[in-house]
Amino acid sequence: MRRIHILHENAAWLPPLAQALDQRRLPWTEWFLDAGTFDLAAPPPEGVFYNRMSASSHTRDHRFAAELTAAVLAWLVRWGRRVVNGPSALDLEISKARQYAALESHGIVTPRTVLVGGRERLAAAALRYFADQPFILKPNRGGKGLGVRLFASVDSLASYLDSDAYEPPVDGIHLLQEYVRSQRPFITRAEFVGGRFLYAVEVDTSDGFELCPADACAIGDANCPVGEAPRHKFTIIDGIPSAVRMRLERFLAGTGIEVAGIEFITGDEDRTLVYDVNTNTNYNPDAEARSGRTDTNRSGPGAIAEFLGAQLHRLPAAA
Ligand SMILES: Nc1ncnc2c1ncn2[C@@H]1O[C@H](COP(=O)(O)OP(=O)(O)O)[C@@H](O)[C@H]1O
Ligand SMILES: [Mg+2]
Repeated sequence: MRRIHILHENAAWLPPLAQALDQRRLPWTEWFLDAGTFDLAAPPPEGVFYNRMSASSHTRDHRFAAELTAAVLAWLVRWGRRVVNGPSALDLEISKARQYAALESHGIVTPRTVLVGGRERLAAAALRYFADQPFILKPNRGGKGLGVRLFASVDSLASYLDSDAYEPPVDGIHLLQEYVRSQRPFITRAEFVGGRFLYAVEVDTSDGFELCPADACAIGDANCPVGEAPRHKFTIIDGIPSAVRMRLERFLAGTGIEVAGIEFITGDEDRTLVYDVNTNTNYNPDAEARSGRTDTNRSGPGAIAEFLGAQLHRLPAAA
């Protein structure tokens, strides 16, 4: 029987999608890609494959899950399987430098970024490029904001590098990046399913840079009250400027990415700077509920299940 195969490595992120697929009685199965055995000479099972491998998989003790997934995707493609978020999506998921190259080549502006291989080169690079301004240090292969740090000066970077707190990036590549000051402490994350804009969510950044929207990532009470009105970290907004939306959709079409959450900040003079493309995206159920999005009314998991179901039904009849 033809199924939807979900390639992933985090059980905690699966239930919302599992529920939406079950609701539609779609046949599906999971491929937990921390480990596995694959006969490359044999054809993979029939069906639609949805790659949800995450850049942060190494932080869950799945150090080589992304590498294994890249190899499995090559096998699936060689056998002509329909893969949603195939090799090019994974390639961007695990490298911000490659994301920025692809974004810029589609006319999308990214923050000024300097690539640094080698811990011992960081301080000199920061001095050269960001001496008189605050800057961000982040790993090239990121995820959930882990290891993303703001520095006010090169001196504070130097003391961090000399301390035990220093975390080497898993692929050895550091990014030094211009700190984009936003008038409001928010970033926007635009969600796309089937390459089309679904909705955008504003994320309050006042509590720091770890912004994973999944319920499984929530620390304590997400609705911490401020005065009378509750303050929510994630709020779905009506839309994003149509020029931004069109450019992002063109970028997704050009790179073969079908499901993504793309993050941007609006800086001075309303400059829109895109700094993160998540091809494994999660949705915030509270924010969806508050904006009236249900499984059958444009919720993230509902939209993905619809999309995957349509791809399954569209497969050519078996020979
Ligand atoms: N250049 C920047 N200027 C200002 N804030 C930033 C910048 N880069 C990242 N951030 C903040 O840090 C968060 C995490 O950074 P991000 O690049 O998205 O890493 P990750 O891939 O781990 O999610 C962002 O959502 C944003 O709030
Ligand atoms: Mg991010």
